[in-house]
Amino acid sequence: MNIKWDSRYDLGNARIDSEHRTLLGLIVDFGEAAEQGAPRERLVRMLDEISKYAEYHFLCEENIMTDCQYPEQKNHARLHLILMEDLIEKFWQFKREAIAADEVFKFMFEWFDSHISIEDKKLVGHLGNGLTTAVPLASGRRETAVGLAPKGS
Ligand SMILES: [Fe+2]
Repeated sequence: MNIKWDSRYDLGNARIDSEHRTLLGLIVDFGEAAEQGAPRERLVRMLDEISKYAEYHFLCEENIMTDCQYPEQKNHARLHLILMEDLIEKFWQFKREAIAADEVFKFMFEWFDSHISIEDKKLVGHLGNGLTTAVPLASGRRETAVGLAPKGS
């Protein structure tokens, strides 16, 4: 498995980039485990983890879109919904042994690569217009959210 983080995935928003790194890490871990012949039930648990993390990440992006009044939110969120439906479908197909692990991996990686390069890039480009997002810190504090202060504050 020679797939790893590529600098072109760094879009310039700390929170989104950090979550994308985690998501790619989970996808690559799945691919490597499959290559090494991990038992199917282990791979199923990994896919479960990926789908739950993807759902969390999409919600995070959609909340950012709401905060910054992103004009393409509806379409972007629709793409997230379609992906989640496709991902769940692949998950079940894999679970009942209708498809192989490498097919699931290929689907996840290609989607990750193209969605970041097109849709997420547009979103972060919009955020670049003076808007950044809060990044949760290990200490429990959050960085100041520049440009997202509630109206009237
Ligand atoms: Fe997205």
